[in-house]
Amino acid sequence: MKSIIVTGGAAGIGAAICARFAAGGFRVGVLDMSREGAEKTAALLPGAMALQADVTDRASVEAAFAAFGDTPDVLINNAGIATFGPLLDQEPAAFARVTQVNLIGTYTCAWIAAKGMVARGSGIIINMTSINAVTPGPGSGAYPATKAGVGKLTEQMAIEWGEHGLRVNCIAPGFIDGGMSAPFYADAKVRALRGGAVPTGRLGTVEDIAEAAWFLASDNASYISGHQLVVDGAVCHSLLRALPRE
Ligand SMILES: NC(=O)c1ccc[n+]([C@@H]2O[C@H](COP(=O)([O-])OP(=O)(O)OC[C@H]3O[C@@H](n4cnc5c(N)ncnc54)[C@H](O)[C@@H]3O)[C@@H](O)[C@H]2O)c1
Repeated sequence: MKSIIVTGGAAGIGAAICARFAAGGFRVGVLDMSREGAEKTAALLPGAMALQADVTDRASVEAAFAAFGDTPDVLINNAGIATFGPLLDQEPAAFARVTQVNLIGTYTCAWIAAKGMVARGSGIIINMTSINAVTPGPGSGAYPATKAGVGKLTEQMAIEWGEHGLRVNCIAPGFIDGGMSAPFYADAKVRALRGGAVPTGRLGTVEDIAEAAWFLASDNASYISGHQLVVDGAVCHSLLRALPRE
C-alpha cells in the first residue's frame, strides 16, 4: 500500500487531498499543527493517521514522520498562512512568520522526507504555491514572495534530487472557494465578481486542487518534474481579456 503525508491536512485543500488519496487506496498521514483538526480529518478516512506537528518546528516534524513509520511515497507540503493588509502595515516579525511557515516549513518537511526518499531511490514531493507566486495580489504581505520562493525551491529540489529517483513539482491554486479563502467568498458579491473574472466561469474548488495533486503523484506524470501546475481556470492570463476594447 502506498503512503502519503499531507501537511496542513486538517482543513481546506489539505483535507480534500487527504480524502482523494485515501479514496485512491493510500495510507494517509494527516499532519497539522491542530491536533484536534488532524484527528477529525483522519477519523473520516480509512486507515488514516493524525500527526500533530508545526512545520516551523523541525523536532516536531521529525517526531511525526517517525510516528508515521516508513518514509511516505508522497509528501505534499500544503501548510501555509497569509497575513493580509498593505505592506506598510506589515511588521517585519509578521513577514518573518509567514516566511517561516510557507518557505522554511516547506523546506524543513521536504528535507526530512527527502533523506528517506533518496535512501530508498524514489519519492514524490508536491509543494503548494499560489497564483500569487505568478502575479502578486495587492495587500498580500509576505505571501507572494514566499510562494515564489517555494516555486524556485521546487525547481532546485527537482534538479538536485531527480538523479535519486525523486520528482518534485508544485501546484499554484487560483481563486479557491474554500480553505483560507472561505470567509472571503462567503460574500455573494465577491463570489460573483471573482467567479465572473475567471475565463472558465467559476471559482475553483478544493477538489480541483486535490485532483491536480492526484495526477502529479501518479505514474501518468512520471516525466514531469520541476514544474508549477497553475490550476486557476486561466485567470492569470486574463489581463487583456479584462481590458475594454472598441
Ligand atoms: N484557499 C485558497 O484560496 C488558496 C489559494 C492559493 C493557494 N492556497 C494554498 O493552499 C494551501 C492550503 O490552503 P487552505 O486554503 O486549505 O488553508 P487553510 O487555512 O484552510 O488550511 C491550512 C491548514 O494548515 C495548517 N497549518 C497552518 N500553519 C501550520 C504550521 N505551522 N504547521 C502545521 N500546520 C499548519 C492549519 O492548521 C490548517 O489546517 C496553503 O499553502 C495556501 O497558501 C490556498
